[in-house]
Amino acid sequence: MATSFLLLPSILFFFASASAHIHYVVRVTDNPADQLVAALNNNRTAKKESTLYDNPGLGCIALQYIKAYQGDCGAVGGDDAKKPPDSQFADTFAPNCGVTASTLSQITGRLVACQSKYVEPSKVFSEILMKDSKSLEILYNKNHTEVGAGVTGTDGGAPYFWCVLFSNGTRNGSFTVEGGEAKITRPGCFSGANDVCSSANWPRSITLWSYIATAFIAAAYAFGL
Ligand SMILES: *[C@@H]1O[C@H](CO)[C@@H](O)[C@H](O)[C@H]1NC(C)=O
Ligand SMILES: *[C@@H]1O[C@H](CO)[C@@H](O)[C@H](O)[C@H]1NC(C)=O
Ligand SMILES: *[C@@H]1O[C@H](CO)[C@@H](O)[C@H](O)[C@H]1NC(C)=O
Ligand SMILES: *[C@@H]1O[C@H](CO)[C@@H](O)[C@H](O)[C@H]1NC(C)=O
Repeated sequence: MATSFLLLPSILFFFASASAHIHYVVRVTDNPADQLVAALNNNRTAKKESTLYDNPGLGCIALQYIKAYQGDCGAVGGDDAKKPPDSQFADTFAPNCGVTASTLSQITGRLVACQSKYVEPSKVFSEILMKDSKSLEILYNKNHTEVGAGVTGTDGGAPYFWCVLFSNGTRNGSFTVEGGEAKITRPGCFSGANDVCSSANWPRSITLWSYIATAFIAAAYAFGL
């Protein structure tokens, strides 16, 4: 009798820790932004470049960076490709993410893509982000030490924006978040925060107009500093 009293709690403890472990594994992989960073780091290490630290503060800022495009796919690629003004990092992105402004570090590269269809992160990496001629140069830049990625659909639907920001900041002294935990913002997903996230969770309100306007768009752009 006494044995079973002891046994039951230990069995429960076993299942609790097993499910906590499984939950953790799911959290790390079930996020398209984390999957994009994994694809990118796999490609770098195959080229004998260092693995970049997946900084959640920088990931959150990558998601904010996308939002600055306000769903305008046309601004991403082409001859008049735009990028948000650098002042927005301190003025808007950092406060929205709870990132301490004094820890904002140099951005050493950026990759942005916009797509009318949702595509798997590994394909976004190899078939869309790496299409631009400058992309490989940016991917293999030896100055990067860390990375952050974000993905979102406008109002949860098409077009889908992907953004990767690179920095040469130090792991514990750059893009640090107040309280130690990145603010999870929706819609959209960002890397580094052990956050389960999928496009299926985003609210959907696709209007006919936005469907027509974005039906065939695919654009990508790579910026250095
Ligand atoms: C890395 O990515 C580039 C661009 O997609 C590709 O050409 C190259 O084969 C990839 N390298 C590896 C080892 O996967
Ligand atoms: C790396 O950074 C240094 C200055 O910090 C700069 O001179 C150099 O061009 C950078 N290298 C690349 C590949 O961007
Ligand atoms: C990051 O790069 C910038 C510009 O190239 C340089 O001024 C700065 O010293 C670098 N920071 C670190 C921590 O290497
Ligand atoms: C960052 O880490 C280094 C080495 O681990 C340590 O010396 C330094 O004090 C840390 N800096 C901060 C701001 O925590």
